[in-house]
Amino acid sequence: MSTAADYLHPLLSVKPKIAVVLGSGLGAFADSLDNAQTIPYHDIPGWPQSTAIGHAGKLVGGTVEGIPVAALAGRAHLYEGYTAQQAVYGIRALHELGVESVILTNAAGGVNRDYKPGDLVLISDHINLLGQNPLSGPNDGSLGPRFPDMSEAYNKLFRATAKAVGAEMGLNLVEGVYAAVPGPSYETPAEIRYLRTIGADLVGMSTVPETIAANHMGMKVLGISCVTNHAAGVIDQKLNHTEVLEVGERMKSTLIGLLRDLCRTL
Ligand code: HPA
Repeated sequence: MSTAADYLHPLLSVKPKIAVVLGSGLGAFADSLDNAQTIPYHDIPGWPQSTAIGHAGKLVGGTVEGIPVAALAGRAHLYEGYTAQQAVYGIRALHELGVESVILTNAAGGVNRDYKPGDLVLISDHINLLGQNPLSGPNDGSLGPRFPDMSEAYNKLFRATAKAVGAEMGLNLVEGVYAAVPGPSYETPAEIRYLRTIGADLVGMSTVPETIAANHMGMKVLGISCVTNHAAGVIDQKLNHTEVLEVGERMKSTLIGLLRDLCRTL
């Protein structure tokens, strides 16, 4: 076992089946778990610390109506100076603990002109523009194959289930392609036009390393983007992180409701 899994295994009173990774400003779900056990990242051996504003930096184990869940409030990004390998440390540790499915959430800019701040979009596929891959280097065959398939990186059945669960809550969950960029500067309008041309609907600075590592290990992934802003140049307005966090805060109860229903259903 990795040192993190070794540390967490005796500590967690639940054996999580589902992990939920919470993006910028979207951490509130972690505090909604029943029988919650909070473990700060700085207590877990080897775990990258969250330095980004809006990321609490804690693992919360608990249940949602009896379903054992681990929530990660805060993740490691490449713009913090972490490598793609470090960014997937947590997801690999959770896999060792028995997690089979992961819900990855993020805050994203809307590249698709139909999206508006506050929309929740199911990620159908991604474009990796990070310039890094967490699987670079020698392959650990105990985790997965050298050349893992990525043709359904975001599980189709999970997306269909999420649409049905969302519809029951009155949400119209559409699907979109997420482009991951390294950041931390936001994109220029020209870069957003480029992303739209190559087929992206959403842009953000996370999620893709975790999706790659999860697929490598045979885990099923559901990706949910919270559109926090129109991407650069879509409207005549400058971008800032405060706005991103504010929209995340505004979406708090909707997202908690959706994530709780998904934990029960997936
Ligand atoms: N670009 C990149 N990442 C983001 C954005 C954006 O517009 N909004 C939230 N995360």
